Amino acid sequence: MKDTLLKEAVKMLDYSYSPYSNYKVGAAILTDTGKIYTGCNIENASYGATICAERTAAVKAVSEGEKRFTAIAIACSGSTFAYPCGICRQFLYEFCVPGMKLYLIKKDGETREELFEEMLPYGFRGSDIN
Ligand code: THU
Repeated sequence: MKDTLLKEAVKMLDYSYSPYSNYKVGAAILTDTGKIYTGCNIENASYGATICAERTAAVKAVSEGEKRFTAIAIACSGSTFAYPCGICRQFLYEFCVPGMKLYLIKKDGETREELFEEMLPYGFRGSDIN
């Protein structure tokens, strides 16, 4: 599954809309029902309205009723790994299952594997306000 997810994330680089940064990102999320949802970064002339690849994939999954993510793969066009930005870490945290994997791949094909929870220690779930 790791290889499939990484391959799907790399495929998404072709759909990246990134005329401002010229930095392509692709993501593929695996849900606990075995489905894969993909996304790419989508930039905007206002810059601030840009959406990261991870959140593109996440909103596709959640809007189809899939709210339990077991893994995410992130590919980028750069020569260093594209770890998810702070906003994406918080956004994904909402839907991560314990042990969710984070797979990364960079331009030269090198890969890395992490535990998603370790990317956001003491992450906020808001359980005390709900
Ligand atoms: N980007 C992502 O898609 N994911 C990240 O986690 C980091 C940044 C995108 C946003 C923007 O289109 C480009 O990378 C440069 O920041």
